[in-house]
Amino acid sequence: MKIIHKINEIREIIQKEKQNGKKIGLVPTMGCLHAGHASLIKKSVENADITVVSVFVNPIQFGPNEDYDKYPRTLEADAKICEEIGADYVFAPSAAEMYPGLEKFSDLTMVCPPYALTDMLCGKSRVGHFDGVATVVTKLFNIICPDIACFGMKDIQQLHIIKKMVKDLNFSADIISCPLVREESGLALSSRNKYLSEADKKAALTISKALFAIKDGYQKGIKDTKLLFDTAMTVLDPMIELDYLEFVDKETFETVSEINSPTIAAIAAKVGGVRLIDNIIIGE
Ligand code: PAF
Repeated sequence: MKIIHKINEIREIIQKEKQNGKKIGLVPTMGCLHAGHASLIKKSVENADITVVSVFVNPIQFGPNEDYDKYPRTLEADAKICEEIGADYVFAPSAAEMYPGLEKFSDLTMVCPPYALTDMLCGKSRVGHFDGVATVVTKLFNIICPDIACFGMKDIQQLHIIKKMVKDLNFSADIISCPLVREESGLALSSRNKYLSEADKKAALTISKALFAIKDGYQKGIKDTKLLFDTAMTVLDPMIELDYLEFVDKETFETVSEINSPTIAAIAAKVGGVRLIDNIIIGE
């Protein structure tokens, strides 16, 4: 497995692989890989001939008061994981390689997903975040030209926006959705879990517990999302600063007040200053 830092170099490699008839899989990541990422890489290795894992902490998807500077950068360990799973290339460009000569990000041509999809859930409190994600994913798609690209369902709004972007902008990559992966405790895996103290982690566990309580309530016959919301609130640790807990239709992402079709219960919350997200699908 090779680590490539330059766009021209990975382009040449991919061109040759494509000339040899190889199917290319891309797994876009920001590194600090965990078992959730490993499942995406495994999926790509199973479904493509060549797997490229991109490792790039994308500055333009972080807000001014977010954790861009302290986001964990662990390339050596990431490369080891990629190699063990059978990836062929890690593409790890620098910020200057991806955004050369850029004084201000407002000078950049951006890909902006529809406002209706970004002015909700995470996009509401992370203004501009999904423009940054859509722009870097577009750049990665243009550099790697993947036949398939694997994204996790933990970032369910991101996945929905990318699927829409691929459809609207006629990208040829097939988007493969991969299930969210949890610790045995129920905590959704996230690179940001590394920031949690023991006490934070204990409180963070109540995020997934709240979602499981929603599922349980639904299975006992509660369809009213207000009642399900209240059930979840009784479970959440008071240390948790809730950003949102919302119920949206799995296909349209419209708000749901009564569950009559597959519905996503999505939550974002801060624990000890660390922003965590999680979701569960009910009514399938
Ligand atoms: O999900 C992530 O890690 C990032 O948002 C992505 C898709 C790699 C874009 O930077």
